[in-house]
Amino acid sequence: MSIDSTDFAPSGDQQPSDDAGPRTAVVIPAAGKGVRLGPGTPKALRELGGTPMLVHAVRATARARAVDLVVVVAPPDGAPAVRTLLGEHGLPGVVVVPGGGTRQDSVRLGLAALPDTVETVLVHDAARPLVPDETVDAVARAVRAGAPAVVPALPVTDTIKQVEPHPGAEPEPVTGTVDRSLLRAVQTPQGFARTVLAEAHTRLTAEGDGATDDAGMVERLGVDVVVVPGHEEAFKVTRPLDLVLAEAVLARRRAHDAF
Ligand code: CTP
Ligand code: MG
Repeated sequence: MSIDSTDFAPSGDQQPSDDAGPRTAVVIPAAGKGVRLGPGTPKALRELGGTPMLVHAVRATARARAVDLVVVVAPPDGAPAVRTLLGEHGLPGVVVVPGGGTRQDSVRLGLAALPDTVETVLVHDAARPLVPDETVDAVARAVRAGAPAVVPALPVTDTIKQVEPHPGAEPEPVTGTVDRSLLRAVQTPQGFARTVLAEAHTRLTAEGDGATDDAGMVERLGVDVVVVPGHEEAFKVTRPLDLVLAEAVLARRRAHDAF
């Protein structure tokens, strides 16, 4: 989508029926506190290279050719401030809604703000501000090609041990070593046929939650989920060291762009 458009006019590569309204939307949950990052501003508003993480995330997804609409889920009392912030950064066409107490609540509130015309929904963490637009487009393409649920993921590089967990600092007995070749570390954006994700949120909200990602919710409905290649720059900013990595990635991009 054209990132400075105010009306989500097609930027050239969308599907034929764009005149009828946006067909592919990204919901960006950004209502978390960022406890693991340490005290301070809510994580999505922390700056990377002088620009709030959320602004990076909105630009990264809005830049993708498949994306017609971006919905940001702001901290519960922060929607007006986020609206102002996005306007100041040349992103006035983004829909902003207040979020909830859990990520799942926030995603549900974002889904509720989608116009009826939206058929494909991507859910993307504000905490993954540097996702390449190619990854966003690859996920959207796979959904449009017929997959009801698509997650980008990378092979796991660490060796993973299963343990008998001990609460304290005592050594934990190892109970097995998982076959790494069968594991994938999943990222966002995760993409869905809108009806599938909406149904998961309706049914699982009623039954109580517990899934740790959006695809996990639709898996519980028995819907097939497929994996497409993720990208190392789509990593999540969770702990302080991740900020160092994100700054380094931005610096590398800037150096590259200068040539
Ligand atoms: N999120 C949200 N609403 C919540 C909790 C999380 O929209 N109630 C969003 C975060 O803003 C983030 C994404 O979900 O973009 C992934 O969550 P996570 O990385 O865990 O972020 P935080 O919850 O902010 O971090 P922490 O768990 O360290 O507090
Ligand atoms: Mg969290």
